[in-house]
Amino acid sequence: MKEENTEAKSCTCCCSSKETVQEKDYKLHWNKAFDRSDVNNLGWYEENPQPSFDLIKKCNLKIDSSILNVGAGASTLVDELVNLGYENIIANDLSSSALNKLKERLGNDSDKVEWIEDDLTNPSKLNKLENIELWHDRAVLHFFNDKKDQDTYFALINKVLKKNGYVIIAAFHLNGAPKCCGLPVHRYDENMLKERIGNNFELLESFEYTFLNPSGDPREYIYTLFKRIN
Ligand SMILES: C[S@@+](CC[C@H](N)C(=O)[O-])C[C@H]1O[C@@H](n2cnc3c(N)ncnc32)[C@H](O)[C@@H]1O
Repeated sequence: MKEENTEAKSCTCCCSSKETVQEKDYKLHWNKAFDRSDVNNLGWYEENPQPSFDLIKKCNLKIDSSILNVGAGASTLVDELVNLGYENIIANDLSSSALNKLKERLGNDSDKVEWIEDDLTNPSKLNKLENIELWHDRAVLHFFNDKKDQDTYFALINKVLKKNGYVIIAAFHLNGAPKCCGLPVHRYDENMLKERIGNNFELLESFEYTFLNPSGDPREYIYTLFKRIN
């Protein structure tokens, strides 16, 4: 019974439902996911990033504030930020296929974005960044199941984010699906994210949000906005 529930709540629109990752090559896994499907059929594809924008509005960013979207995939947040005129947008992903799809969609506007293909759990380029004013993550942190990878992720935030900078993390909620894209996820609630990000940050806002994926299945998220105070 438990097994059936797990399978039913797994992603059914972007990966064959019974697929599990045998290999530990996550870059290959994500490249295959982006290569085999139209972007707007991917289980996490978000046409309208309204919940992120509701939090971004609260940051009162300037037009030249540096905004780092980690694990950007090929959803529309970067397009929207470009359209709003933000001049210092950085898009990161482990997957070159994801970044290429996003670049293709942006066309000439792709020159307005800095592209960083790098692994958040073993960064070699992201860790050179500094004075980031907004770190944005939707649906990335929850793929890091090992404490070591989570530690690297939060250490990176502390390394690159400016004092008084903001962090938005949207992750699968404790009530949410146990898997996405064939991978098990580590789910969170507000308190868990507060504890993980640590005392250098103040929680400004959080809310639960139900995203309907392209198959119409609900996915429960926890959205959080933190401000760096130390
Ligand atoms: C579920 S998708 C979310 C994409 C996008 N944030 C969105 O809201 O549509 C997860 C993304 O994280 C990327 N990713 C997974 N592991 C990563 C890592 N270690 N470093 C950087 N990106 C990673 C994947 O390639 C994929 O684009």
